[in-house]
Amino acid sequence: MIEASAPGKVILFGEHFVVRGARAIASAVSLRARARVERGEGSIIIESKNLNLRAALEPSLAGSAPAELAPYVSVLRALRERGYSLLPHRTMIESEMPLSAGLGSSAATSVAYALAYSALHGDPLAEEELFEVSMAGERVAHGNPSGVDNAMAVRGGTIVYRRGEAPKSVSSQLSNYLLIIVNSGERRSTREAVEGVLRLAERHWDVLEKVYASADQIVERALRFMAEGNGEGLGELMNINHGLLSAVGVSTARLDLIVQELRRAGALGSKLTGAGKGGCVVALAEREKASQIARHMLSLGYETYVSEIGAPGARLERI
Ligand code: PMV
Repeated sequence: MIEASAPGKVILFGEHFVVRGARAIASAVSLRARARVERGEGSIIIESKNLNLRAALEPSLAGSAPAELAPYVSVLRALRERGYSLLPHRTMIESEMPLSAGLGSSAATSVAYALAYSALHGDPLAEEELFEVSMAGERVAHGNPSGVDNAMAVRGGTIVYRRGEAPKSVSSQLSNYLLIIVNSGERRSTREAVEGVLRLAERHWDVLEKVYASADQIVERALRFMAEGNGEGLGELMNINHGLLSAVGVSTARLDLIVQELRRAGALGSKLTGAGKGGCVVALAEREKASQIARHMLSLGYETYVSEIGAPGARLERI
C-alpha cells in the first residue's frame, strides 16, 4: 500500500486584490489531505472518507462516478495521457480540512491521489507534472481555478504570486509563530464573492484604486517582515488587510466577531482568509500562546485549528 499526503493553504495577504493585479501571499498549512492506494482486481475503486462516497470504474474509466468524485476521474485521465496505464486499484481519500472553506482541500486531495497512484505505478510524478495532473481535477471541482491551491499543495512553504506570473517562494523566519485557523461555518461561493468585488471595483474604481494599491503595499511590507521574523508587524498588517477586505464587502458579522475575538484572546493579528462571505479566519500568534488562544475559540464553539506557517508540500508517507 502506498500513502501520499499534500497540505492545504491559507491566503495570508492580498486575496481579491490579486484578481485585479495586486500580489498575494499564500502559505501551506499543517492540515493535510491523504490518499492511500493499493492494487486491486478487476476495477478501480475510489472512496472518499469525508464525502462518504464510492465509485467503481472499469480500468477504461467506463462506468459512472458520483459528481463529487469526478475530479479524481479527471486526475486518472490526465495520468493516462502522460503514459500511465490505469491498473485496477483501490484508493481511500481523506482530508483533515473542512471542505468548501477556502483551505484548498480539493486541490490537496487531487495532488495526494496523483502522487500516490503514480508511485504505485513505480514512477512518482515530479513537481511540475504533479501540478499539471492535479489541475485536471481542480478544473472539474472549481471551473476556473487560479492554480494557487495546487501550487501550494505540491510545493508547500510560502509563496508570493501575481496573476499570470509563476509563484515565487518566500523566505521567512517565523518559527516562533503559529497560525490559528477558525472556521466560521458560513458557506460561501468563491465565484459569487469574486464577482461581487469586481462589480464594486468597476462602479467605484476612482475610490478603490488606492485600496488595491494599498493591498499590494501590504504585501511588499509583509515580505520584509517575514524575512525579518517580525510577527508583531505582520499581525498589524493582517488587521489592516482585514479592514480593506471589509471595505470591498466580503466580511460578515460573524467573520468580524471571530476576528475581534482572536485579537482579544491575544493573537497578534487576524483577518478573513480567501474569498470571504464566510469560510475561515486566520490569525497569527506567538508559538507559546497559540494553543491557549485556540482552546478559547474552541470553548466558544468554533471549529479551530493550529498550524505551522509554510508546511511541507506533497510527499510520499508510506511506500
Ligand atoms: O477562498 P479561496 O481559497 O477560494 O480563495 C479565493 C481567492 C480570491 O482571491 C478571492 C480569488 C482568486 O481567484 O484569487
